[in-house]
Amino acid sequence: MNTSYLQVERSVPLQGKAELVGAKNAVLVIMASLLLTRGKSRLSNVPRSADVIHMILLLRQLGAEVSFFAEEHVLEVDTTQVNKWQVSPDSMKKMRASILVMGPLLARFGYADIALPGGCVIGARPIDYHLKNFVKMGVEIRENGDFLYARASTLKPTRLVLEYPSVGATENLLMAAVLTSGVTYIVNAALEPEVLDLIVVLKKMGAKITITPPAVIEIEGVHELQSIEHAILADRLEAGTLLIATAATGGYIDLPQAPAHAMEVFLLKLEEMGHKVEVGPYGVGVRLHATDKPRAVSFKTSPYPGFPTDLQAPMMALQCTAQGKSVVHETVFENRLLHVRELQKMGAQITVEHNTATITGVDELYGASVIATDIRASCALVIAGLMAKGTTTMTGIHHWKRGYDALEEKLAQLGAHIIVREVEEENVQSSYVVEETEKQIRV
Ligand code: UD1
Repeated sequence: MNTSYLQVERSVPLQGKAELVGAKNAVLVIMASLLLTRGKSRLSNVPRSADVIHMILLLRQLGAEVSFFAEEHVLEVDTTQVNKWQVSPDSMKKMRASILVMGPLLARFGYADIALPGGCVIGARPIDYHLKNFVKMGVEIRENGDFLYARASTLKPTRLVLEYPSVGATENLLMAAVLTSGVTYIVNAALEPEVLDLIVVLKKMGAKITITPPAVIEIEGVHELQSIEHAILADRLEAGTLLIATAATGGYIDLPQAPAHAMEVFLLKLEEMGHKVEVGPYGVGVRLHATDKPRAVSFKTSPYPGFPTDLQAPMMALQCTAQGKSVVHETVFENRLLHVRELQKMGAQITVEHNTATITGVDELYGASVIATDIRASCALVIAGLMAKGTTTMTGIHHWKRGYDALEEKLAQLGAHIIVREVEEENVQSSYVVEETEKQIRV
């Protein structure tokens, strides 16, 4: 059995400049959206993360031809021969984003046979907003065990009101609506930067989409869509993680591509801690000079443009050694505080009541053996490991691999002592995703 783990030592202040990869949460849905076209599309700035590999395998199951030039971060997808609408439970269980092929398959074929999705265990994560709105669009859905059988002779344009601005539901419905004759409205839509990148892609394909305040997406259906070329937007979550890691070690970092305009509440909180944040022209690029006397700050997660839930865990880790008390309220997911238990093992003083964690800053954290329970929890534990005295070992690193493109290598280039260890083979393997990619993907 493979029992690889990440080993992290207390870090010197991180120093330097780093390039960002494309956003995981944008690339997965954009890959799914290519099913709406017939032809060869080219995506650049594609991260070499395990979830991208899962989505490639999923597209191939449906009949797409996919080539991933991992070193160049370029993905070519030819959807001309796509002729299947059944997605195996195995693919669906590997990542929740698999559900995002449902909208495109319904738009293209009027059929989608989909197992219920898997992904990070961060709450119930139902898909009721997706399903009930597909039904409003005229889709008949039959459930049988873990499978959904969706059928629609034609999709109907209508007014879809989301009771919560779900990112995935907005994306799925949007993709179903672009080929639906007539005008569809999505009210209370999620407008995360990754949703907007999907909209850019759909418009390049020829879709007619407008956004009107406060959060309505209006889609006028077209008959067909063209293949495209697109560079995936820079990952604000990778940027946030690198900024937090630098703040944690009292260092300096320059991220010239960081989309500062898309992370303002998060940057405000770093400033409130005492860190110096400089934003580049037109809101692109961030430099951070860390303070050596960070103050604790409180924050609450909420849909964009609020504080992103995906940065809650690493930001909480940063509070563990800040001066004072911090109250962190998670409002997006109902079970996204699993990292607390692991941070406590490292000496963090945290109490939890429902979805609120109160952190009292301590002088020092201690290295420990910890377990990552989801993608962003893995980040929190790495951040804590960079601050902790001694050695931290983190298992459950498949979560880390799912979300990031060898982020440990970027951290190491900035001065961190962090490495992936493969126990079984008794060797150190740092380019696991590239190797996986080469084994499975190169054609
Ligand atoms: C996406 C992101 C994830 C991020 C999240 C919130 C991807 C691949 N993943 O996940 O990294 O943390 O947005 O920014 O883009 N909900 C329902 N019913 C539904 C759908 C959602 O109750 O049908 C609830 C969820 O349980 C959750 C909340 O709505 O509590 C937000 O979920 P959603 O925005 O849909 O997140 P995802 O699209 O799964």
